[in-house]
Amino acid sequence: MNLLNINDDVNNALLSVEKVLETNFKWDFKSSILKEATFHLLSVKGKLLRPGLVFIGAEAIGSVVEEYIDLATAIEYLHISSLIHDDIIDKDDKRRGKETVHIKYGIENAILAGDALIARAVSLSAKYGERVVSKISGTAFQMCDGEALDYSVQEGKVKQDFNGYLEVARRKTASLISTSLSIASIRENKEDNIVRKLENAGENLGIAFQIRDDIINAVGSVELGRRPGMDDATKNRPNIVSVILSENGKKKESIETAITLMEDYVGQAISKLSDFPRIDVLKQYINAYFNPEILRNYLY
Ligand code: IPE
Ligand code: IPE
Ligand code: MG
Repeated sequence: MNLLNINDDVNNALLSVEKVLETNFKWDFKSSILKEATFHLLSVKGKLLRPGLVFIGAEAIGSVVEEYIDLATAIEYLHISSLIHDDIIDKDDKRRGKETVHIKYGIENAILAGDALIARAVSLSAKYGERVVSKISGTAFQMCDGEALDYSVQEGKVKQDFNGYLEVARRKTASLISTSLSIASIRENKEDNIVRKLENAGENLGIAFQIRDDIINAVGSVELGRRPGMDDATKNRPNIVSVILSENGKKKESIETAITLMEDYVGQAISKLSDFPRIDVLKQYINAYFNPEILRNYLY
C-alpha cells in the first residue's frame, strides 16, 4: 500500500512532487559529476512518506493541498540529503536498490550532493515565509544532532539505553516526520494546540517508523526492506531490539516487545489525529504500514 491511495487531492499532489523530483532542468550545475550524484537517488522513487504527510497535514487544517507541492518537494530533498550523508556515516553500500551515492561517486561528491539538496530545500521553502524556513532549518539541525548521537553509539563512545535510544530516534528520524505533518499548520499560524497535536502525532509516528525499521533489520527481512549486508547488531548501531535484548536476553521476546512498543506509538499518533477530518484513510494506511502480523510472520 502506498500513500497514493489516500484521496484524489493528495494523490494528484504526490504525482506532481514525483514529476518535480524527476526533472533536473532547473538546477544550474556546471559539474556533471555533482549533477549525477545529486540525482542518483532522486531517480528512484522512495515511499514519499514525508511529502504525503505534508499534504495530509494541510488537509487536516482545511488548506489547499496543491499550495504545498514545493514545500513537500523541499522536505523530500532534505530527507534524501540525510539518506546520502547517513550512508556515508553508516558505511552502507546499498540504498533504494542501488549503490549508495558515496560508493558510486566517492565520499567527496556525496557530501556535496547532500549539501546541494539541503541548499535546494531551503531555497524552495523560502517562499512559504520565515516561520517555515526556521522550522525546516531547526529540523535539519536536529537531524544532524541525532545522527551524531547515533554515531557516538556506533563508535562505542556512548552506551545505548532505552531513553538514549528514544532521543536518537526522535532527533534523527521523528523530527522530520513531525515537521512534515505540522508544517502547514505552522505556516498558517494555527492555534498552538492544533500545531502541538500535529507535531506530537508526527513525532509518535516517526518513532514508530524508526522502531519498525529496526525490527525489520533485526528479523533480517530483505523483502520488507532490510538492505543486504546490513546488520545493526554486529555494527553496534542504535536499534530498539538490541536495547531491549541487552535488558532481557531473548531475541524473539525482544522483538515482540519492540512490536508492542511500535503499536503503542502508532496508537498514540492515531488518538492525537482523531480530532481531524479525513483521518479514516490515513488510519487505514498507518494500520497497513505498521501491521504487526507481517512483522511477526518472520518470527514464527
Ligand atoms: C529511511 O526512510 C530512513 C529512515 C528514517 C529509517 P524511508 O524508509 O522513508 O526511505 P525512502 O524515502 O522510502 O527510501
Ligand atoms: C536514518 O537512520 C536516519 C536518517 C537518514 C537521518 P538509519 O541509519 O537507522 O536508517 P537506514 O536503515 O539507514 O535507512
Ligand atoms: Mg543508515
